[in-house]
Amino acid sequence: MGIRIAVLASGRGSNFQSIIDGIKQGEIDGEIAVLITDKKDAYAIERAKENGIPFHVLPRKEFRSKEEMNLGIKAVLEEHEVDLVVLAGFMRIITQELIAPYRHRIINIHPALLPSFPGLDGQKQAYEHGVKVSGCTVHFVDEGCDTGPIIEQAAVRIDECRSAEEVAEKILPYEHRTMRKVVANFSKGRYIVEGRRVRYEARK
Ligand code: GRF
Repeated sequence: MGIRIAVLASGRGSNFQSIIDGIKQGEIDGEIAVLITDKKDAYAIERAKENGIPFHVLPRKEFRSKEEMNLGIKAVLEEHEVDLVVLAGFMRIITQELIAPYRHRIINIHPALLPSFPGLDGQKQAYEHGVKVSGCTVHFVDEGCDTGPIIEQAAVRIDECRSAEEVAEKILPYEHRTMRKVVANFSKGRYIVEGRRVRYEARK
C-alpha cells in the first residue's frame, strides 16, 4: 500500500499536476488523498476534478484566525488519513497547530535556492539581485518562513533571462522534477532529519 498524500495549493497547481503525473507513471507509490485550497477558483480544483481527487475549499474568511484555519486543515488531513502534506503554491501561513502534529511530514517547494530569497516572489528577488544561478528547493516546513531543513535542490542558470517572469518560467520545470523526485522518494523510503541535515534511506 502506498502513501496517502495531501496537496495544498492556492492557484494554478502545476506542481500538484507533477505529483498526479508521477503517480500515473508509477514513479510515486501512493495516491493523492485530498487537495486542499483556500481559493474557490483555483485552477488546481479543475485538475482534482479531472483526476477524481477529493478536494476541500477552506477560504480564509471562514475562520476567525490563521490558527483556526490551520486547525480546519488539520481536521481534513486527519479525516483523509494523510501521511505526507505537500505545500505547492499554498499562499497561507502554516502555524504550530499544523506543524507540531505533522513535523517532518510537511514539505514545501520554494522557487529559489534557499536560504537565498525566502518569502514571496523568490524568482523576482533573484532576478533583481542579479544572481547568475538560482533554482528551486524542497524543504520541510518549520516555524520560520522557508527556513526548514532542505531535502532537495536544483540549480538553474538565469543569466540569460530578461525578466522575473522569464526566470519563473525557466525554473518551473525544475520545480516539477524536484517535487516528483522527493515525493517518489518519500513513498519508497524515508528522509531522516539530523539537525539541519536531511539524508535519505531507501526501503530495502
Ligand atoms: C511555484 O513557483 C512554487 O514554487 C511557488 O508557487 C508557484 C506555484 O505554482 N511556491 P503552481 O501552482 O504549482 O503551478
